[in-house]
Amino acid sequence: MPRVFSGIKPTGNVHLGNLLGALVRWADDQHRADSLYCVVDLHALTVPQDPAELRDSTLRLAQILLATGLDPDVCTLFVQSHVPEHTGLAWLMECTAGFGELNRMTQFKDKSGKEGFVSGGLFTYPALMAADILLYDTDEVPVGDDQRQHVELTRDLAERFNSRHGPTFTVPRATFPPAGARIMDLQDPTAKMSKSDDAAPGTILVLDEPKVVERKIKRAVTDAESEVRFDVAAKPGVSNLLSILGAATGRSPEEAAAGYTQYGPLKADAAAAVVARLEPIQARYAELAADPAETTRLLAKGAEKARATASATLARAQAAVGLVPPG
Ligand code: TYM
Repeated sequence: MPRVFSGIKPTGNVHLGNLLGALVRWADDQHRADSLYCVVDLHALTVPQDPAELRDSTLRLAQILLATGLDPDVCTLFVQSHVPEHTGLAWLMECTAGFGELNRMTQFKDKSGKEGFVSGGLFTYPALMAADILLYDTDEVPVGDDQRQHVELTRDLAERFNSRHGPTFTVPRATFPPAGARIMDLQDPTAKMSKSDDAAPGTILVLDEPKVVERKIKRAVTDAESEVRFDVAAKPGVSNLLSILGAATGRSPEEAAAGYTQYGPLKADAAAAVVARLEPIQARYAELAADPAETTRLLAKGAEKARATASATLARAQAAVGLVPPG
């Protein structure tokens, strides 16, 4: 059975890009693969966070993940900081990665350009992400398109470590959805939908009410033509709606385009498909949110399961580089 690992940051609110790019596949993958999913709270710290807000977001995110269908009896769901092996292996990854290759990461370039204060952690972020993945002998990493470069770096680090120190890590590969790998902002379809734009009309949140979803999609930017066709370069707004409709209904964007001659019906159907996807998640989330103690208990169980594998991998990697085992 393949091993699957993926993670999501508890910053801002979970949006439709997260759901269609990654989370819907997490729920599917858990039934065909040995799957581990992680709320990466340490990654959130790479930019300043309000402590109370981070605590709330971490628990809320775990509840949303459970509400999307992750079953803690089937997969392993845990919080990154509960498994200290992540930071232990991250150091070895920082010492394996070159300054130049970390400096080439496009997410670092984007984010460091926007932040007033650029932490060292923001720069070494991909080394921690590589540690997350490599700790679990991961075969597949289901992510959206924006994580492609980070998973490529993880592969390079695993290969470099293995060739320097002998076979230690499984070399993972990223997997992407047929539609929805890059959901764009509804108001600016040349920029990806992102968590930092929480209140923005271009971002659909997983917890948005149906009316809000309908309004945001109705107002989505399209173009001056009226032809419905999937062509990201020439028609970014319409193509984004087709990606959303396709991903929400299990089809490719090209298949989703069939039969539409006007933007109005396309928008109405895209909104209906998104609402149909979100409603059961929101209902389940409301139940889970009423019992935070149960979520905390499930996360503790998940961390214990994760640690069993993580501690063995970290010990193997530490021994490989020549660290003396304790006692
Ligand atoms: P994060 O928290 O930004 O996003 C979580 C997942 O959602 C995907 N995603 C999108 N997919 C399609 N369209 C979008 N507009 C969109 N926005 C986000 C992301 O690709 C991701 O799959 N660095 C990671 C978290 C991480 C991780 C890991 C992932 C830490 N360690 C190990 C995989 C394996 C991140 O910031 O994701």
